[in-house]
Amino acid sequence: MTWPAGWIAEVRDDLDAAQRRDPAARSRLEVLLTYPGVHALLLHRISHRIDAAGWHLTARVMSHAARMLTGVEIHPRAQIGHDFFIDHGMGVVIGETTIIGNGCHLTQGVTLGGTSTRREKRHPTLEDNVMIGAGAKIIGAVTIGEGARIGAGSVVVSSVPAGATVVGVPGHIIAYTNRTNETVERLPDPEWDRIDALERRIATLEAQLTAQSPDVRSAAVRDMEPRVEGLTR
Ligand SMILES: CC(C)(COP(=O)(O)OP(=O)(O)OC[C@H]1O[C@@H](n2cnc3c(N)ncnc32)[C@H](O)[C@@H]1OP(=O)(O)O)[C@@H](O)C(=O)NCCC(=O)NCCS
Repeated sequence: MTWPAGWIAEVRDDLDAAQRRDPAARSRLEVLLTYPGVHALLLHRISHRIDAAGWHLTARVMSHAARMLTGVEIHPRAQIGHDFFIDHGMGVVIGETTIIGNGCHLTQGVTLGGTSTRREKRHPTLEDNVMIGAGAKIIGAVTIGEGARIGAGSVVVSSVPAGATVVGVPGHIIAYTNRTNETVERLPDPEWDRIDALERRIATLEAQLTAQSPDVRSAAVRDMEPRVEGLTR
């Protein structure tokens, strides 16, 4: 497709993506007029073409203007697929060598950033249908596999397999989406299991102590309780 026709098709596609993913969106016109993430994306689609035509400085100035208008910074050379949506937008940063597949969904405050200072592929690659929650930071030339979900506030510094749900700092996998039937299968949490086992063991020891010698047990509990309260307060 030639560039204006191609761009118009992309605009329609991007407006539809926003309407599909945001239950608050009522019409394409509302999305076009009031969604900064969509504005940033439409301007990026233009600056990306200008950059590819060799007008690098013009493309950078345009992306800078888009950032001032929308709070979303997308480097003109970032490669973004179809059906992409940035919800709310403010504070999103998408670096130069980022590659984003089709059907991805980002929310405000997401960083797709680099860790290297060399001119090489140093930003993340998102495969198709990746969702990244508010404020999550994905840094380095890592790959986020197809259909993966990254929880709000996570920091991801290594690649994530397809279908995984990642939360926390640093991000760790808590579940996988079974793509044959779309059900989410939770993984065991070893840290929590260990704390749980320790609690049960303490309860057993307390019971044994009480059975053997109630006085020793009450002295031990008297000694421990203020400290435990201090920890849980
Ligand atoms: C990661 C996410 C996709 C998981 O959703 P889900 O599959 O429905 O998972 P649940 O909400 O059932 O949570 C599963 C577990 O992960 C924990 N969890 C969920 N999101 C988390 C997060 N962002 N950080 C840390 N832990 C998180 C929950 O507390 C729960 O733990 P528990 O089983 O010990 O109680 C979702 O929580 C998320 O962060 N979505 C992003 C939403 C967002 O950014 N909205 C902004 C819109 S503008």
